[in-house]
Amino acid sequence: MKHILSGYPIQRPRRLREKAVLRDMVREFHLRPEDLIYPLFAVPGKDVVNPVSSMPGVCQLSVDNIVKEAVDAYKAGVRAVELFGIPPEKDEVASGAYDPNGIVQEAVKAVKDACPELYVITDVCLCQYTNHGHCGIVNGGCVLNDPSLDYLARTAVSHAEAGADMVAPSDMMDGRVGAIRDSLDEAGFEGVPIMSYSAKYASAFYGPFREAAESSPKWGDRRSYQMDPGNSTEALRETALDIQEGCDIIMVKPGLAYLDIVRRLKETFDLPVAVYNVSGEYSMVKAAAAQGWIDEKRITLEILLSMKRAGADLIISYHAKDAIRWMNE
Ligand code: PBG
Repeated sequence: MKHILSGYPIQRPRRLREKAVLRDMVREFHLRPEDLIYPLFAVPGKDVVNPVSSMPGVCQLSVDNIVKEAVDAYKAGVRAVELFGIPPEKDEVASGAYDPNGIVQEAVKAVKDACPELYVITDVCLCQYTNHGHCGIVNGGCVLNDPSLDYLARTAVSHAEAGADMVAPSDMMDGRVGAIRDSLDEAGFEGVPIMSYSAKYASAFYGPFREAAESSPKWGDRRSYQMDPGNSTEALRETALDIQEGCDIIMVKPGLAYLDIVRRLKETFDLPVAVYNVSGEYSMVKAAAAQGWIDEKRITLEILLSMKRAGADLIISYHAKDAIRWMNE
């Protein structure tokens, strides 16, 4: 009774914070190297390293340099990469996206040859490959849904044929997971998982990526297919549909400003949840760090850990290689 009478608290949360060893012992969430997926951008040519000005530290790389970077990342502890391609030519129907000798297909083959243990995921979308920059087939100023599905499915199959371990559709057409699943199964790739960008918002946070991937829409925007930032419950409906259609991993994109959605997906569904720590989030950290305004290492590790705490099992992040290096220090 003495403590109550004298006004001292019985419960003192600070007891568990006093010593580092105990803080480590009672920590609820952990960031691990295997949580992170490292994105890479493949361009045509040989020995090409094009720095992306809005994303310091990120470069477009020709396939020979993609291989070097992938091997280097693997040695640093990166377990998985996600490959994006920028084709030599773009057209109405995104021919480069499903070309068996296309840029991503070549990059996948070369990376799997050089480093078979590295898990290779491919982004499945048409926007880098279309001359209008939209994620589907266009007619009369509209992005057509059903005609786009066949092209997306062909793209996914061509990635699997090149040796991709997993495909990740990011286009947001209705029914694309089902179309991709059917085509993969028909082609004998029933073991290749689909990580669906199931709740992908129409976001200004993708700005720097569009420089990296040269994928800005030439007219209009992506609001007729990507989700409205004002919606939350819609993310559950979108994700439920993708699960019905056979996806294996669900995703929220962007990350930081959408961690409430990560939490809702985690609590609603029993599939692994991925989150995309997108280009704009990366660039903001890099810009502030370059000014000396923030501690890049601490901020980055805190952001990634916060994504785990929100409910993410996997994080796609341009910080992946640095973060793993910092984790291991
Ligand atoms: C392609 C795609 C985009 C991103 C990943 N896949 C851009 C977009 O939808 O415009 C964004 C990634 C990032 O910003 O880091 N559809």
